[in-house]
Amino acid sequence: MLKLQDVTKMYRGRAGRVQALENISLAVQPGEFVSVQGPSGCGKTTLLLIAGGLLRPDAGQVAVDGRRPYDLAPEDRARLRADLVGFVFQQFHLMPYLTVLDNVLAASLAKPSDDGVRQRAVDLIEHVGLGPRTHHVPGELSTGERQRVAIARALLNRPRLLLADEPTGNLDPASSEVVLRHLADFADAGGAVLLVTHDERAAQYPHRAVRMVGGRISED
Ligand SMILES: Nc1ncnc2c1ncn2[C@@H]1O[C@H](COP(=O)(O)OP(=O)(O)OP(=O)(O)O)[C@@H](O)[C@H]1O
Ligand SMILES: [Mg+2]
Repeated sequence: MLKLQDVTKMYRGRAGRVQALENISLAVQPGEFVSVQGPSGCGKTTLLLIAGGLLRPDAGQVAVDGRRPYDLAPEDRARLRADLVGFVFQQFHLMPYLTVLDNVLAASLAKPSDDGVRQRAVDLIEHVGLGPRTHHVPGELSTGERQRVAIARALLNRPRLLLADEPTGNLDPASSEVVLRHLADFADAGGAVLLVTHDERAAQYPHRAVRMVGGRISED
């Protein structure tokens, strides 16, 4: 579902160059839940952005469901993302003035909306246990509940690949479990999950743990 081959990325900033990734090769199959663990600054977020078609690597190949996002025109790349990829981030990125339902539905704006989409949003909110919070805004939710909204949003377009960047970073152990359980369920249903984290507790759910140090994979 996701294939990275010899991916390399260097940031060129005013303060100089940072080699963020060096020859990373990694594949995630449908139904597989892979975690990448490593210290702060080792390149985890960079890896996820590249995998999701959001950041072009300097060298190497990226394929999502056999298609190469960086060979596509920007609008086709955006379409590939909307069709296949769901993102979950540590900071949730919810719209503060939208209700839970509208935040979940916001994911459908990139896609022509169909009649079933609203019902699907309602069902997903129920699925993550937030039925009674459907019409709340994020400011009226706990941190763990916000992350569950972000998961429902990420699932709206029926992605086949879920990319999660430190999704439990702001959560207590019980909420972390719930979030990881949802990612595991997605993989059990045939989806591919790539989770990047420095959270050691996150290790019990993924099928495969990859270790990263200094922009390289040290263990797979
Ligand atoms: N836009 C940028 N310009 C220059 N350097 C950057 C930029 N973004 C990230 N870096 C550097 O690239 C390296 C990898 O960053 P990245 O955000 O991928 O790390 P990370 O593993 O996600 O860290 P964390 O666990 O703290 O989120 C770091 O050394 C960082 O300082
Ligand atoms: Mg990061």
